[in-house]
Amino acid sequence: MNFDFQSQDLAAAAQEKCDALLVLVPDGVRTGRSPLDLLVAQAIKDGDLDTKGPKPLSAYRSGQVKADRLVLVGIAGGSAAQVRAAVAAALALVKSPKLKRLVVAFAAPAQEAALRAAAVAVADGSYVFTHTKSKPTPRTLTAVRLCAPESTVFAVQGRTDIQRRVEATVAGMELAKEWANRPANHATPTMLGKAARDLVKAAGSSRFSCEVLGPAQVAKLGMGAFMAVAQGSSEPLRFIVLRYNGAAKTAAPTVLVGKGITFDSGGISIKPSGEMDEMKFDMCGAASVLGTFKALTLLKPKINVVGLIPSCENLINGQAVKPGDVVTSMSGQTIEILNTDAEGRLILCDALTYAERFKPSVVVDVATLTGACVVALGSIRSGLFSPDDVLAKALLEASERSQDPVWRMPLDDDYAEGLKSNFADVANIAGRMAGSVTAAKFLQRFAEKFAWAHLDIAGTAWKSGPQKGATGRPVPTLVEFVCSRSENA
Ligand code: BES
Ligand code: MN
Ligand code: ZN
Repeated sequence: MNFDFQSQDLAAAAQEKCDALLVLVPDGVRTGRSPLDLLVAQAIKDGDLDTKGPKPLSAYRSGQVKADRLVLVGIAGGSAAQVRAAVAAALALVKSPKLKRLVVAFAAPAQEAALRAAAVAVADGSYVFTHTKSKPTPRTLTAVRLCAPESTVFAVQGRTDIQRRVEATVAGMELAKEWANRPANHATPTMLGKAARDLVKAAGSSRFSCEVLGPAQVAKLGMGAFMAVAQGSSEPLRFIVLRYNGAAKTAAPTVLVGKGITFDSGGISIKPSGEMDEMKFDMCGAASVLGTFKALTLLKPKINVVGLIPSCENLINGQAVKPGDVVTSMSGQTIEILNTDAEGRLILCDALTYAERFKPSVVVDVATLTGACVVALGSIRSGLFSPDDVLAKALLEASERSQDPVWRMPLDDDYAEGLKSNFADVANIAGRMAGSVTAAKFLQRFAEKFAWAHLDIAGTAWKSGPQKGATGRPVPTLVEFVCSRSENA
């Protein structure tokens, strides 16, 4: 999807030839004298347009604009959330297979945050999943112009800069959504490996590379915890290593690790059947690493980045790992697997140990790790865990800037008490309480050799219910984080 940002007023927006024009109207807007301005003013005066929004008012081939369809919608104070809701409501009215070119015009000067919110909402509202439909009606919307009058934001930060960052973020989110939404039989570990390879090929740059390890290589590395999860499935595991070299060879890389469980049945500690289909989304961490690399191919920032994706199914066959089994991780630590459904931490711990070889500047892992995190934070904020205040602050700030919020959670050592085992160095579960924290405490044991943070995206990576589907989170946070590290380097 092509975005284009312009500094223009409603008079200019009205002259745009497009399939639909959305006009975003804040409280107390001061309208000009053009026919479209007068129409907006009249609609407010007559009480037909509520600037408090988001109740869109729509028209077909109205004389005031060149667009076929016109929608006016209120954005109240113009916050990111208000803009997002208004665009979603307005877009729903004009969404059709004929919609190819869209113009979104702010009736008053807008900040970068509002422009970004509008762009992401347009991408979100027009996304369609077609991969497994027999008669797909694909998205036709390709060109989106966002405009606001007197946009000083462009003068300060540069129109193309904002445009590139937003475009790359949206492209990354869309790749993440696409792979996350694919059902487990259409998104196996092998297919994810191919997706990573294809991404690197499409980048057409020697700065990107990809290596996909299989069962024999993973066994040789001694990844006993990862192998234990994979052994209950006939689908072979994959360990994907993505690399981007945008800085000097000697510059320590930022490492991103994504949980890639393509289906989580729970294993012998089997999950209840209700909504078990949603466990196809248990590779959203992996998808967000792929999405972030997609954005890197478009932005090419001056930084080195490594993406690590341990990927397998958590299923049940005669070889499946059993509760009580003790396995040896790549780090040498032995793990008593008391619950086979706590598998994410088992594949991540070996990936974290593998990360040591890159002598990373920081390691951030991303995982749909615990139902407990959903209980704690719902679907609004992802859980952020890090013993490193500087790293935590950088991630928090990146998440706020990118409108993909996280919330810092505690990591006191007392929380690790329940992970003690009589038969191994550590158990893979603790008690019922503070489940997202004890999971993070488990991971922390394997992340002592570098600055580390963990994002639990179990509540934010996808939506349930009638709107069931991946969100593309936390790609915005990761892209913003990586780019800010390159700027500060
Ligand atoms: N993939 C799940 C976490 C999950 C559950 C994400 C529901 C989103 C919605 C993870 O592998 C898991 O099963 N975790 C267990 C851990 C428990 C056994 C300690 C959980 O959260 O119940
Ligand atoms: Mn599980
Ligand atoms: Zn899982």
